[in-house]
This record gives sequence, structure tokens and C-alpha cells, in this order.
Amino acid sequence: MRLLAAITLYVGLSAQAIAGMPGTETEEKARFLDDLLGQMTLAEKIGQLRLNCIGPGLTREQMLEEVAASALGGVFYVAGRSEARAFQDAAMRSRLKIPVFFAYDVIHGHRTAFPIGLGLASSWDVPSVSMSARIAALEASADGLDMVFSPMVDIARDPRWGRASEGWGEDAYLASRFTEAVVRSLQGPRLSEASSVMASSKHFALYGAAEGGRDFNSVDMSLSKMYQDYLPPYQAAVNAGVGAMMLSYVTINGVPATSNRWLIRDVLRSQWQFKGLTLSDFNAVADLVSHGVARTRREAAMRAIKAGVNMSMSDTAYRDELPALVKSGAVTEEEIDEAVRAVLGAKYDLGLFKDPYLRIGDASGDPAQIDDERRLHRSEARDVARKSLVLLKNQNAALPLKKTASVAVVGPLAKSRVDILGTWSSIASPAQAVSVYDGISHAIGDPKRVLYARGADISDDPAVLDYLNAPGANPPDVEVDPRTPENMLKEAVEVASQADVVVAVVGEARGMSHEGASRSSLTLPGRQSLLIQALKATGKPLVLVLMNGRPLSIGQEHDIADAVLETWYSGTEGGNAIADVLFGDYNPSGKLPITFPRSVGQIPTYYSHLNTSRPFKVSTPLAASSRYFDEDYGPLYPFGFGLSYTQFDVSELTLSSTILKPGERLRASVVVKNSGKRAGETVVQLYIRGLSASVSRPVKELKGFEKIMLQPGEERVVSFQLSEEDLKYYNAQLERVAEPGPFSVMVGLDSRDVKEQRFELLDPASDHYVFDNNPGASRMMK
Ligand code: NOJ
Repeated sequence: MRLLAAITLYVGLSAQAIAGMPGTETEEKARFLDDLLGQMTLAEKIGQLRLNCIGPGLTREQMLEEVAASALGGVFYVAGRSEARAFQDAAMRSRLKIPVFFAYDVIHGHRTAFPIGLGLASSWDVPSVSMSARIAALEASADGLDMVFSPMVDIARDPRWGRASEGWGEDAYLASRFTEAVVRSLQGPRLSEASSVMASSKHFALYGAAEGGRDFNSVDMSLSKMYQDYLPPYQAAVNAGVGAMMLSYVTINGVPATSNRWLIRDVLRSQWQFKGLTLSDFNAVADLVSHGVARTRREAAMRAIKAGVNMSMSDTAYRDELPALVKSGAVTEEEIDEAVRAVLGAKYDLGLFKDPYLRIGDASGDPAQIDDERRLHRSEARDVARKSLVLLKNQNAALPLKKTASVAVVGPLAKSRVDILGTWSSIASPAQAVSVYDGISHAIGDPKRVLYARGADISDDPAVLDYLNAPGANPPDVEVDPRTPENMLKEAVEVASQADVVVAVVGEARGMSHEGASRSSLTLPGRQSLLIQALKATGKPLVLVLMNGRPLSIGQEHDIADAVLETWYSGTEGGNAIADVLFGDYNPSGKLPITFPRSVGQIPTYYSHLNTSRPFKVSTPLAASSRYFDEDYGPLYPFGFGLSYTQFDVSELTLSSTILKPGERLRASVVVKNSGKRAGETVVQLYIRGLSASVSRPVKELKGFEKIMLQPGEERVVSFQLSEEDLKYYNAQLERVAEPGPFSVMVGLDSRDVKEQRFELLDPASDHYVFDNNPGASRMMK
């Protein structure tokens, strides 16, 4: 609670108030940067453009030497005050004593892991997600970090892409709301405060649209789709004052982001007025050779710096090639200065020139134990994790469970404290994580009534296991049981038979939803489906707890199970949060931020698709239509979907008018009633559709949402205001316009089941209007 008050403050600050901060040059800052740049040699300037971590090509000692020799501007993957101090001490031994900054992948918490991005987004709870980011900033800065490589805001509509796990899902509007809140919470009221960290949003741009969901792949997309559906979250980060932007690995209409002048100079810098620092992704400058847009690393360095990539992450192209490029005149010193200025400006904004040890502090303040339990924020993590859980099925009120029951906890993920932390779990410790088994045991409080069997491994495929367990990883990320699959299954069935209810914890190892982890199938890996069938055959009530980082195609398992709870990877306190929901101490309220397809062949299944010439109609299912004839129509679970232990009824939708005049507002209202027996929260969602525009418009587009808590029997009017601004989109000429004509407005508790009304946006040039209620044929008439 103490934190929530502070968070609310940041959320409440106006975009302009914050946007003016990072990167913006005051007179004092400009003088300081001019003066410093004037003293720097070319080699020192080039040093500032390098951001590196300890790795195979660079030992710790070499890195310290490079820092002392002014050959590095930033260091990442060093977390912990004493280690950061060693590097900053080295920087203070350099000729100009320019501090280095420290960065880390803090994507969903730092020492305390919060749910992964998809989980956070499932809360549809902006203040809670803000709080998680503020805590991440507190914990990261307390470890000496100045910058975090987050938020990850890539729109992902292809669940095969393993990195869909990290972002906010498929919708630009929802993603933008989280993005702006997280940027503000990470950066705090002033970046120069010790508890603020600079956000480096990523991956600019369109990483999530990689063809076939295959990581690092290419993107080919119309500009209007780009501006409409994929770019808004990055722009939201800029509007919220993000200090840095990391570029993506992909090519965009043929041109890699890392050499894309249009993307960086025209869109980011010129159109959006971004004043901060641009970073390449890991090795991405050198990768320009692989992309086939540079013959050599020298050409690659030239293309990147000219395109506007200020810092190069973990390759040697800038270090080795820029000196010769400047000498030959291929790159001007002004181009180098432009990039250096952005790096120094970030350090200035972070307060590092005033105090290079601002976040590192004095040795006397170092924690005696780096993973001291008191450094965690458990209650906040549990609260956010509960909100991230999505109830997908609950037949015959199978949930909540009784604490007096005996429970068989089965599955390869049931006891995992590694997987529950999720990918990119920074330095959160598995030893401090609560598994689902732990959480259920805490809730029941009687070890005799919590039975366990592993049941199956996450995969039996040696190639998959080798992929997941990086060579030399100790302990390995994925454990393999030495018993035969048959023995494991037999034991699980025996254990299940002894219990009142079975909770099967199934899904993916966290490494399956990670960088470079694209899947060609969306079914449960390994023998988990067989395990579920065998458990069902015991006749015991069967609850599936899904742990995964992408939508899965689990139609069969859905049909078999009595209840299905999507838990994503829910973080340090995940097990307790899951138990809170399983036993009814918390009424689930999560809603999916991404559509679940029935099969991989159905992809893409995003909800905001176009209507097509022959949309599927339930009334004429056999007619030729835009569907797969060998698959049921529509997704398994739609965007925005999630059940509760109580029942919410939504009234018909009423509009304050059927006409919207430019400059005026229209109110869309429903009455939501909790007609069940438990208090609960739900998310009321507002969608619109342009019915007759100059280009075909999506069947639904999210334009607003409100999370409400209702007591049993309570009802509330939920109203949304719509203005011409909400109806704007990018037309074929890339103009952002609201076109006069008929619109549909829809409100519901998910994107499928909505109440609908229509209105007309008036043409200001017309003076007489007829509202034609015939959809599709509706026109403005004079
Ligand atoms: C590569 C990843 O794409 C990016 O998200 C991450 O921030 C960097 N590596 C640094 O770890």
C-alpha cells in the first residue's frame, strides 16, 4: 500500500510533464555536453558508443581495463553494488572520468519476479502493473543499475513466437496503456533520483510481427497497418518520456531496423520527437552483414551510425571500424558527436555526472547478503500475480476447492521453482520462489492431504531437451526423471486415485517461451496430454493449471478438464497466488490479452481482423466463407476472455445519441450486475467498428476498458465517452482521420460476447443527415 500511493502519483503526472525530461536539453545541460565533447578524443568518443557485457570474447578483467581506458560507455549484466562499484572505480580512473552506466534485462521484476508480460497484461490493471514496475525500479536501482531494457512492447499476434511471452499481447490500445504507465513508473518523477532507472523500451520496431513467428525473421507490412496496429506502443513509450529505445533484429520491408534511417530518423526522431538514446540489440550491428545489407563489418558500422543507432550492443564493429570510417570521411565526426551526445545526455539525465555512484552508494551500505529475503516484495508480487490469473473454464463450479480436501498435485511443472519465474526473470532466485505444490501445501496446511506425482517430463525429445538445457548449465533448466514414462504415469494415476481432486500443473518449460524459442506446434509438449487423459480416467475432478508463455491449442484438454486456470509464469509468489485462486481466497479477474487459437493452422486469430467479403455466419455454416472447413470457426478462447467465481450480467447498451458531431462526445453505457454470490472484479471492454470507411476497418477495436469490483447483488452503470478522436485511424494515405459515417459500438466482458449499438459520425460539411440503420449500406445523405 505504501508503494501504491507513490505509483498513483507517477501515473497521474501528465505526459507532457514527463516527456520534457529525458533527452531534452536545458541550457545548462547543453553547455555541459558541449564542454565535455570538446575535451574528448575520437577514441574516447567511440568508446562511449559501446555497451558490453562480460562474455566469451570479453573477460571481466578485459572489461575493467576497457572501462579505465575510456573504451566502453555502458556495461550490462552486472548487477550488485560491489561489482558495479569496481567498474565505476575503473571509469573514475579514466582520463576524463566519464561514468559508465549499468543496464540489465529487468522485464517483469528484478529480485522479486512478477508475472511475465502476458501475465501482467492479463490483469488489465494499470495501477498494479505500474506498481510492479516501480518495485522493479527500486530493486534494480538498489543493485546499482541505472537502465533497464524494458518495457518490451512488441505487439505479438503469432503465438509460435516465443517472445510473445514478454510483451503485452496482441492489441495496440491495451499495450499502449501498460507501456506508458510502466515507463513512468520505472523512471519515477525525475530520472536523476537514486530510485529511478532509465527505461529502454524495445524492440523498435515490429519484432513481434516476424514472419511465421520465427524469431529474428523478416516483416513485410503495409505502412497503414504498421501505424495503426504495431507502432502505437512504441510511440506511447516516447510520449511517456522513455529515455532509451532498443532497436529490433528484424528487417522491415527489407531494411533491417538497425540500418533503417526512415525508422529511426523519420519516425522516431522527427515524427515522434524522441530525444533520447538509441541502442542496437545484441550484436545487431554486425548482423547487418548476415542480413545482406553490408559486405563487411565496416559497412555495417557505417550503415548503423548513419541510420541513427547511437550505441552498439556487444559487438566490436563500432570499436574496430569507426576510427577508419571517420579517417576516410565515410562517417563524419559530427555523426559520431551526435551519437556520443545522446549517450552523455542519458548519463546526464541519470544524474551520473553529479554522482557516478548515485545508485551504487557507499560500500558501508551494501547488503550483507545480496539475495537477502528482506530485499523482496512478496506481498505486492502475490497481489499482482493473483490478478494475472485467467480462469478459462469452470464446469459445475469445480473451483474453488475446499481446503479440507485431499489434493493430488501432478505434472512436470508442479514443483518447479525455476519455470514459475518465467523467462528473463532477471536475477530472481528460484530458491526464493514458491512453486504450485508449495502454494497448495501452504493453503492446505496438512502435508498428508497434499499428494504429489511428476507424471511426465516436459519433453522426451532429446533434441528439445538439449535445446532447453544450454551446454554446461548447472543445474540444468529442465530436469529429466530417470524413471520410464510408463512408471511415472502409473504413479500419477495411483496418486490421483487416492485424492479427492487432481490439480495437474502442465504447460511449457520457461525456455520454450524465450528468445530463439519459436514453436511449430502449440500443443502441450511431451506426454502431458496422455497424462491428462490418464488422470481424467480416474474419475476424479480434474483441474488444469497451465503454465506457459504463449497461447496453447488445448481444445482436447479443455474438453476433458473440469476447470482450466491460465497462470502464465507468475513469478516469485506464483504458487501462493495460484493457491489463492484455487481455494477461493481470491476471485479470479484476469482477461486474456491475446487470442488462443484452436490449432496452429488457424493462426492468425487476432480479434481485430477485417470482416472479409464472406464472413462466416453461424446461421449458414456450410456456405463458402473465410474459415477453415476442417476446424471449428473462431478461436478457442477470445481476446478479453476470462471467467470469475461469480456471475456478471451486462444490460443492453445505451447511447446518449445516435449522432456524434465533431467536437462533441457520445456516451455509451451499460449496467453491470453481480448476480452471483461472491464479490468479484471484472473488466468492462469497449470496442468500436467503422462500418463504411474508405478502407475496410476491423470488426472490433478496443477503445476503452474499466475494471470494476462489485459486491453480490450490486450493480453499476459503466459509461465510456467516445469522441471523434477515438474514431481516427490511418487511411491509405497515412493520414490519421475520422471518416464521417456509421459506426458500431460494442461493450462486453470479452471481445466475443458484446452488446451493440450504432451511431453516425457527422460530416461537418453536411447540414442534413439521415441515419440509415441498414449496416453496410449506411451512408450520410444530404
Ligand atoms: C537480446 C534481446 O533481444 C534483448 O531483448 C535483450 O535486451 C538483449 N539481448 C540484452 O540481453
